[in-house]
Amino acid sequence: MTISTVRLTVVSALIVAGIAVAIQPGEAHKAITSKYTYNDDVFPILRDRCASCHVAGGVAPMSLMTYDDAFPWAESIRAELVAAHMPPWNADAGYGEIARAHTLSPKELDVILTWATGGNPRGSLDQKLPVVELKNEWKLGAPDLALKLPAEFTLAADKMEDWQEFTLATGTTDTRWVRAVDLLPGTPSIVRSATIVVKSAAGPAAGGGPAPEHVLALWLPGQEPAPHDGVAFKLPGGAQLGVRIHYKKTWQFEGKALTDRSTVGVYFSQNPDTGTHELLSLPIESAAAAAGADHVVRFSQTLGEDVQALALSPDNVPGNISMQVEAVKPDGSRVPMIRLNTRADWDRRYWFERPVTLPRGTRVEVTANLEDPDMLSAAFTSTPGAAAAQARPSSMRLTLNVIPAPPKPTAP
Ligand code: HEC
Repeated sequence: MTISTVRLTVVSALIVAGIAVAIQPGEAHKAITSKYTYNDDVFPILRDRCASCHVAGGVAPMSLMTYDDAFPWAESIRAELVAAHMPPWNADAGYGEIARAHTLSPKELDVILTWATGGNPRGSLDQKLPVVELKNEWKLGAPDLALKLPAEFTLAADKMEDWQEFTLATGTTDTRWVRAVDLLPGTPSIVRSATIVVKSAAGPAAGGGPAPEHVLALWLPGQEPAPHDGVAFKLPGGAQLGVRIHYKKTWQFEGKALTDRSTVGVYFSQNPDTGTHELLSLPIESAAAAAGADHVVRFSQTLGEDVQALALSPDNVPGNISMQVEAVKPDGSRVPMIRLNTRADWDRRYWFERPVTLPRGTRVEVTANLEDPDMLSAAFTSTPGAAAAQARPSSMRLTLNVIPAPPKPTAP
């Protein structure tokens, strides 16, 4: 991209910001009313909360790591934060207990909004901020198994996004226990998300849908892989991994071809024999065409065993819907699990703050609101053929990751 396009874009961003500010009564002059400055207050928050993507070479369209990078985007930052679009995190706070939420604290939000709407002061002029660079490295250290994708993939000049599926041989001969899986992008600016599964030898599921998959990881830029003590996924000897990558360009690279070759990193449990629990995947699936006239889809599943739920992921749901998951125990008590506003690009596995004990007979209830009637027909007209993988699904599926519940203590 030429310098003049950069300027033009920044200038138009400024014009848009200017108009937005001008129509707000009392803000016609950009007086500096913010007591918070970029250098002292805003930068540390952006560095901690946004730099995994908003850094030179990152997956986001612009860096926010210097004052000059950030201030033209002040109005856009305000809008994205108020809409809860950034940082990307789809779960509602206050419903269920989700660990490691990627959200801003009320204080952080206040600092950034005050700065964004209060004249965007820079702070002291002689202050030197540290240079923030993209961290493209293994977050858990070198993996036990580093599997480079078998081939390069080129996101063509005339395409903004594409999906690509790869198969990786693990080369293992006996059963291994996987405690975490990570991905190291070859070209971080276009690797938007990845799903890494154990390839199933079984054919399509009854009913014709795709076979339920054993998802090892839903990868997103900057996300810490979440190893848990004493739990691991089982990887059968000789298993193959399936890797689905969503490649997406930002406007900076419009018209350019970009090539990637990422590496998948697998971390094995060190002492698999001493009490490691197998992390199982329990699909909770809707039937096709399950939506009522109110655009609400309800489905549920009753558990046949005592389990402890550790995590939940929407692995086959349309984007831009809201969805709520609740467990109804045999005694009638209700346990809120998660409420989500799904966005196609940002699916992840949500780990519960602590294991949720669900006795046998518990009904896991899902309520999904499709909101847009067009999405309804699109979502529930099954599209046969390869295109269906990227199209809206004909049924919805969440996956609960569970371990068997510990045996009940026997009376002394
Ligand atoms: C996981 C990566 C990621 C993180 C973390 C993240 N962003 Fe973003 N952001 C993106 C991407 C990618 C886009 C481009 C829009 C899209 O494709 O969703 C974007 C878009 C934006 C935009 C709109 C840009 C435009 O084109 O109008 C703003 C503003 C923004 N982000 C601010 C932030 C702020 C502030 C934070 C931290 C509090 C943050 N983002 C954290 C990835 C991220």
